[in-house]
Amino acid sequence: PKARPLTGLKLMLTAGPTREALDPVRYISNHSSGKMGFALATAARALGAEVTLVSGPVTLATPTGVRRVNVESAQDMHDAVMAGIGEQHIFIACAAVADYAPKVVASHKIKKTQADNMVVELTKNPDIVASVASLQHKPFTVGFAAETRDVEKYALDKLKRKNLDMIAANDVSGSDRGFNSDQNALSVFWPGGQHHLPLAGKAELAEQLLTLIAKRYHDLH
Ligand code: C5P
Repeated sequence: PKARPLTGLKLMLTAGPTREALDPVRYISNHSSGKMGFALATAARALGAEVTLVSGPVTLATPTGVRRVNVESAQDMHDAVMAGIGEQHIFIACAAVADYAPKVVASHKIKKTQADNMVVELTKNPDIVASVASLQHKPFTVGFAAETRDVEKYALDKLKRKNLDMIAANDVSGSDRGFNSDQNALSVFWPGGQHHLPLAGKAELAEQLLTLIAKRYHDLH
């Protein structure tokens, strides 16, 4: 039988995009499919963890045995994560969280006017993974970095700046990986080490990443 290195551990992860409302019928979002986060939830369960998946709007089915919390905006996702983070051993931020949201949400549909230009003011969203990593009793915290160049440099910078225990960087410049693709490759960094996980299906990659996370977690505890 397969080793289940996450047995007895509570693991929370975020997945998918967020939606930032402009008015009751419009929003700002991104192309995240949620596939990597859902693959990680499935693999974490298979490796023995008790999994909570905080998901933005995606069309994927909930993995068997996983507790799912649906959210829309970055603020909602932040609040759902913070409400349950106290009891978690491991947190993985896989969601493509919108960096900014419209400053005001119109309560009625915004009408077209004579003007050719329209200005929408945006305001910064909370950084969820940084909020988790700044907790006094923080779980083992893993972030993702989607970069199109200088992957290692930006990943290491993010690891430090956000006080993470590990970061998984993917190069999203090619269409054979990342975002909507079923395949991905990851460069994983932690303070004092790194490991490359070559191009593979997201399910296989998820298991490899979680095996690394479990190893690193047990090294520290
Ligand atoms: O800074 P950047 O958005 O590139 O960092 C990506 C990492 O931070 C991902 O793990 C993502 O889930 C997380 N993140 C977050 N909350 C935000 C922005 C990013 O948790 N508002």
